[in-house]
Amino acid sequence: MMHTLCAMLLLVSLDLSHSSSTALRKLWEDWTVKHHKVYDNQTEVVFRRAVWEKNVLLVLRHNQEASAGKHSFRMGLNHLADMTAEEINEKLNGLKLEDPSNFRNGSLKEVSSVSIPQSVDWRKSGLVSPVQNQGMCGSCWAFSSVGALEGQMKKRTGVLVPLSPQNLVDCSFVDGNRGCRGGFISKAFGYIIRNQGIDSESFYPYEHQNGKCRYSVTGKAGYCSDFHILPYGDEKTLKAVVASVGPVSVAVNAMLKSFHLYRGGLYNVPSCNPRLTNHAVLVVGYGRDQGQDFWLVKNSWGTTWGEDGFIRIARNKKNLCGIASFAVYPTL
Ligand SMILES: *[C@@H]1O[C@H](CO)[C@@H](O)[C@H](O)[C@H]1NC(C)=O
Ligand SMILES: *[C@@H]1O[C@H](CO)[C@@H](O)[C@H](O)[C@H]1NC(C)=O
Repeated sequence: MMHTLCAMLLLVSLDLSHSSSTALRKLWEDWTVKHHKVYDNQTEVVFRRAVWEKNVLLVLRHNQEASAGKHSFRMGLNHLADMTAEEINEKLNGLKLEDPSNFRNGSLKEVSSVSIPQSVDWRKSGLVSPVQNQGMCGSCWAFSSVGALEGQMKKRTGVLVPLSPQNLVDCSFVDGNRGCRGGFISKAFGYIIRNQGIDSESFYPYEHQNGKCRYSVTGKAGYCSDFHILPYGDEKTLKAVVASVGPVSVAVNAMLKSFHLYRGGLYNVPSCNPRLTNHAVLVVGYGRDQGQDFWLVKNSWGTTWGEDGFIRIARNKKNLCGIASFAVYPTL
């Protein structure tokens, strides 16, 4: 893939000559096979290819600039590369905005800064389940909340059991969620509290679409009694909580093309507005790399996105992308 891209870069810089359009067709064919793309009709193929070509040029230009030191991250042609930004934001980024004034300010344990490590990666302690792909369903809120609960359950029981986002998608309409059309992290926890449990992923597998609620206590693998919302925009508290509690559900601004096609590196886009959060993800750690602080974040867009499904977002950059705008964790 990298070789093809490098070759493409040369061809594109030679203007789109005959040989480059052949190379472009080859790249398109390889990409559609790799990502199992099947389109309904020829109109759709033409449209998708045009969107994809725009993204190819965007990615090539960005990565050229990254090589020149202008960006700290690279972009790539992942499975979302045939979609427009509007489509991705409409179909995948289903986080509903919460009004913090609706919540009592859950008491946060005071954590002394002396005991907070320089870096944390909860994957190493087995608190993070494998990355999944939400597909064309706005269920990010369900993946984010089960992720936080899985960490707490593992700490309590010693076993990491992936929990069921589908359970939340199908069963929490009453709590104010809308399945694949979006939902709230707080209302996901609200359902688990009210329902007195959530099933495991293996008992109630993910289906990429709304279904009939089939919760059964037989498959119950998680529970929670309360959740706590962190103060708005406070990255210092978020760090302390991630270190002392475990993975934390957060909202982020995932509206930009650079986020959709993120391939790897430190995501630092100053224009990523902290107030426009539309996607739920899971902070599973933090650290510092080449003098830059970052948050280690698990997404639910499969492992071909980002760094095996994860993204490192710049930390201590004034709440970049709203990483600390709405952070919440459950208690058992
Ligand atoms: C082609 O497929 C698209 C996407 O599935 C659909 O919206 C459109 O109506 C189809 N057009 C024709 C002519 O069948
Ligand atoms: C919660 O309390 C903290 C500390 O007292 C405060 O800084 C923060 O703004 C409060 N958060 C909310 C959502 O009211």
